[in-house]
Amino acid sequence: MRVLMVGDVVGKPGRQLTLELVPRLTAEYAVDFVIVNGENAAGGVGITPDIADVMLQGGIDVVTLGNHAWGKREIFPYLDEEPRLLRPANYPPGVPGQGYGIYSCAAGLVGVVSLQGRTFMDPVDDPFRAIDRILETLRRKTAVICVDFHGEATSEKQAFAWYVDGRVSVVAGTHTHIQTADERILTEGTAYLTDLGMTGPIDSVIGMRCDIVIPRFTSLLPARFEVADGEAQLCAALIDIDDISGHATAIRRVQVPGHVVNRSYS
Ligand code: FE2
Repeated sequence: MRVLMVGDVVGKPGRQLTLELVPRLTAEYAVDFVIVNGENAAGGVGITPDIADVMLQGGIDVVTLGNHAWGKREIFPYLDEEPRLLRPANYPPGVPGQGYGIYSCAAGLVGVVSLQGRTFMDPVDDPFRAIDRILETLRRKTAVICVDFHGEATSEKQAFAWYVDGRVSVVAGTHTHIQTADERILTEGTAYLTDLGMTGPIDSVIGMRCDIVIPRFTSLLPARFEVADGEAQLCAALIDIDDISGHATAIRRVQVPGHVVNRSYS
């Protein structure tokens, strides 16, 4: 089974490029299942029901979120109704939505888990204990399990990947918006990449307008960030998984530059 995991989609430039490229990449690389992190899809913070609908109708099987899951309040009831939209699983009991699920595709069943890190981030429940509980449920149904670990610290993501090595198919990090070059398969068969990177405007500071972000650092005054425009880039990874063992057999990073929709690629 081949899974495409796409890094944080930022604003309209990221959404347009994702919707344009996902069907193309799916066909070109014979992808069976597509997971996209959409926590920055609505103006850089959160996701709305309309945007989630468009993404889920556009060839994306599951949309994962992160610390901005709650950025748009209108998504709260939608999270309860749409199992293909996942907020991080390690939030306190009773919050809207779910953090993991099992989905079927032509190649078989796929478990997907969304988790959030705790290092240099707002406090959440323990992702390590959370995955132990979740795997008790998921592994009864399928060995193919893909984890989006939304975290800031490389060390936490790497430690988590080793912790679940051999028990999940892939751990792909999100949140930093910068793709790392450390893709590998760990010793017990889990594919790992510290961060998938961002799908959004290239000439930016992690997707936001440079002319707004720079004064934030130089003046220390608060500023309302805005999504940058211009050419966007899709960052993702392709993971090949043995559907019987659930172990990964290959992981490959993907970066596709492109223009916003309605303009042709060079
Ligand atoms: Fe984030």
